[in-house]
Amino acid sequence: MHDARRHSPAAERNAPHILAELQRLLPASGQMLEIASGTGQHAATFSAALPGWQWQPTDFETEALPSIASWCAGLPNVSAPRRLDVLAPEWAGIPARVDAVYCANMIHISHWACTEALMRGAGRHLSQQGLLITYGPYLEDHVDTAPSNLAFDADLKQRNPAWGLRRLSDVAKAASGHGLVLRERVALPANNLLLVWARAQPA
Ligand SMILES: C[S@@+](CC[C@H](N)C(=O)[O-])C[C@H]1O[C@@H](n2cnc3c(N)ncnc32)[C@H](O)[C@@H]1O
Repeated sequence: MHDARRHSPAAERNAPHILAELQRLLPASGQMLEIASGTGQHAATFSAALPGWQWQPTDFETEALPSIASWCAGLPNVSAPRRLDVLAPEWAGIPARVDAVYCANMIHISHWACTEALMRGAGRHLSQQGLLITYGPYLEDHVDTAPSNLAFDADLKQRNPAWGLRRLSDVAKAASGHGLVLRERVALPANNLLLVWARAQPA
């Protein structure tokens, strides 16, 4: 059988660190929606380690879906990957309520409108206690940006002027527009952050 698996060395490197946080943050079971699954390595690794979670991988690129399906072949708790553009006004085929949304490395490698749309969709689909977990590099007020992240930002902007590392305060503002607040910031290796967003509790 043709092996459609794409391979991202970065996804392989960061997976154990992200997984340790998911295991700490998430309850034993639930419905997961992954946005921008990319190769599918994260979906495969995390769903195997979190067997109580039903994992729905998605990606904007139709060509990514066979790779995701190949990585996840044989995993009973992974649904067939779906094409999902976060910018779509409705996220067709996605359960009305999910317990967590996970999105790694999309915010800085897409137009800013995608971050707004991610927050809008998470605000619409997350259950009351649900969590949005994002992972990647960010710019932070009052925190020196690592030289490697500055170089990465310049490289991204050269590839596409609409891309680039986002300021965490801007992402938080976009989240608050959809009722989400930053609950936790976890520093992970290679100057990446794992951010946990939750519904703002009524005063
Ligand atoms: C750098 S890859 C990250 C893949 C994977 N999450 C990881 O960390 O290895 C960025 C992903 O964002 C996806 N993406 C870009 N624009 C998108 C959009 N409008 N809606 C959903 N996904 C999008 C791309 O297709 C790509 O798979």
